[in-house]
Amino acid sequence: MAPKCDIPDALITALRDARLVCILTGAGVSAESGVPTFRDAQEGLWAQYEPQDLATPEAFLADPALIWRWYRWRRQLVAGAEPNAGHLAIAELAKIVPQLTLITQNVDSLHQRAGSTGVIEFHGNLFDDRCFAEGTLTSGDDSLDVPTCPDCGGNLRPGVVWFGEAIPAAALDESCAAASDCDVFLSVGTSSLVYPAAGLADLARDNGATVVEINPLPTTHAADFDFTIAGNSGVVLPELIDSLAL
Ligand code: OAD
Repeated sequence: MAPKCDIPDALITALRDARLVCILTGAGVSAESGVPTFRDAQEGLWAQYEPQDLATPEAFLADPALIWRWYRWRRQLVAGAEPNAGHLAIAELAKIVPQLTLITQNVDSLHQRAGSTGVIEFHGNLFDDRCFAEGTLTSGDDSLDVPTCPDCGGNLRPGVVWFGEAIPAAALDESCAAASDCDVFLSVGTSSLVYPAAGLADLARDNGATVVEINPLPTTHAADFDFTIAGNSGVVLPELIDSLAL
């Protein structure tokens, strides 16, 4: 069968020689599972809102019930989605290369459901609840408009990282360590607009890694990558695995 996209030979060689491969994924990886990306227009009831206006601590303080309705809608959407060929290919690649670190900005658990282990969740997890005041991971009565903390009685919030908030220290440290140490860095399905995640590719390149972008619409950072592969991750990543096996 003819290849569906062009994987450069030099990239295949770099992957075959790699000791540590680091992958950063963004919302585009879940697009083929039917999960809208962050910068896609929202649909239905939520079309009038920008995700950037809802995913903030200020929005939660102003109207916690609204934010919970949005996150419950997103939980439902994601719970009904299945991992796609891109998620599965990343789990497969981890079995082929000596070491692979997967960092995701996604909060949907689809990588884990595809079989990836040790996933670094840079922006938290959609299905976690966290006490707004204390920051602790806990769970409350999900039938309430706004669930409350069993310890302090304050409001619970979804356990994701919002705009203006710090990345969990362990996730940031492990990600920077992997990006600095890797031989090949793949940036997949991310607009590379949100820092510090977008800076990981720079860290990898500055430390000598081969850096690669996989995205159907190459980003404004495309020129900074050694290779830019224009295509959907659900097509390009399985093709990459096939090319490695040849
Ligand atoms: P974005 O929505 O900004 O970007 C998604 C990217 O995926 C775009 O560059 C698309 O071109 C690309 N894309 C679309 N379909 C694709 C496909 N099938 N295969 C591969 N790529 C595809 O999402 P992120 O970059 O993940 O943060 O956004 C980063 C962060 O900004 C999110 O984690 C979230 C958001 O606001 C927080 O909530 C803190």
